[in-house]
Amino acid sequence: MSAAAAASDHTVPHIPVLLRSILEAVAPVTGVWIDGTLGAGGYTRGLLEAGAARVIAIDRDPLAIELAEDWGAPYGDALEVVQARFSEMDHHVEEADGVVLDLGVSSMQLDQAERGFSFQKDGPLDMRMGQAGRSAADIVNEADEAVLADILFLYGEERASRRIARAIVKARPLETTLELANVICACLPRAKPGQAHPATRSFQALRIAVNEEYAELVDGLEAAERVLRPGGQLAVVTFHSVEDRIVKRFLQVKADAGGGGSRHAPQEAARTPQFTLKSRKAMAPDADEIAANPRARSAKLRLAVRTDAMPEAADPRALGMPDPKRAY
Ligand SMILES: C[S@@+](CC[C@H](N)C(=O)[O-])C[C@H]1O[C@@H](n2cnc3c(N)ncnc32)[C@H](O)[C@@H]1O
Repeated sequence: MSAAAAASDHTVPHIPVLLRSILEAVAPVTGVWIDGTLGAGGYTRGLLEAGAARVIAIDRDPLAIELAEDWGAPYGDALEVVQARFSEMDHHVEEADGVVLDLGVSSMQLDQAERGFSFQKDGPLDMRMGQAGRSAADIVNEADEAVLADILFLYGEERASRRIARAIVKARPLETTLELANVICACLPRAKPGQAHPATRSFQALRIAVNEEYAELVDGLEAAERVLRPGGQLAVVTFHSVEDRIVKRFLQVKADAGGGGSRHAPQEAARTPQFTLKSRKAMAPDADEIAANPRARSAKLRLAVRTDAMPEAADPRALGMPDPKRAY
């Protein structure tokens, strides 16, 4: 059985989060769009059906690409599917009218035990979206205790990071997701009803480290800035606070005209912002969407419109980004 057949055989279909809100906010959808996180194709199909002339759909996971060959066939030349990182989006098209990013993992990835993303299904400690490079097992079994603690704290906001890192080092080698989840659970109080599973934050942190998700996010936002034409729209959906903070600060920095200064700070030179914000606050799913799709619970949507200012590299210190080089 092919990987794609196996995925469609035993996974819950991925329900796209905040798709209707995006399509309403960016309407009318025309021209060339980049979907940087193809997954099961919910956003790509939504954009094509809303009027996009062409969608370049990118995913680093070969499984998403394989699945799209099947469901994407009826769209013909209007759909171009590319296996790549979204930080490379501007290598695949010169100019775009819109870019959408729906960060994190898909239900298809979570549901396949052998991908190692879930602490609820026993599988190898893998967690590689692109199915290549360093796996979670490599980090868990080889990283220094201090580095492990940094990963858990900076990427998962896990307050018991030191205690968990010590327990992991003592229990090594760890081969499977359930072995790791048991070590983490032994370090933390049992979850009360309604609280997340105790391993949630640590698994999130390891997944972010394995896939270098924060560096990818900043590089992806900068690639969107380079590829969007003036008036082009950017929509980013995040699922946890560190991720949202990076997007929020990136857009604040890029939408700031500077020149403000203050009594205490020297007057900065005015600059032409690269983006204008569609709204200051992030949009969130309504109660109906959360009831229909609990995965939407923590989602936030930020929207911005590209100006005609030249692209400019962002200063990572201004983005509140945990330094991946320090932790990895
Ligand atoms: C939340 S899912 C997207 C779901 C999609 N919007 C849908 O409606 O089916 C995120 C997808 O993005 C992919 N992904 C995450 N980070 C990526 C990156 N830096 N470059 C390319 N793909 C990435 C993952 O492999 C996953 O398939």
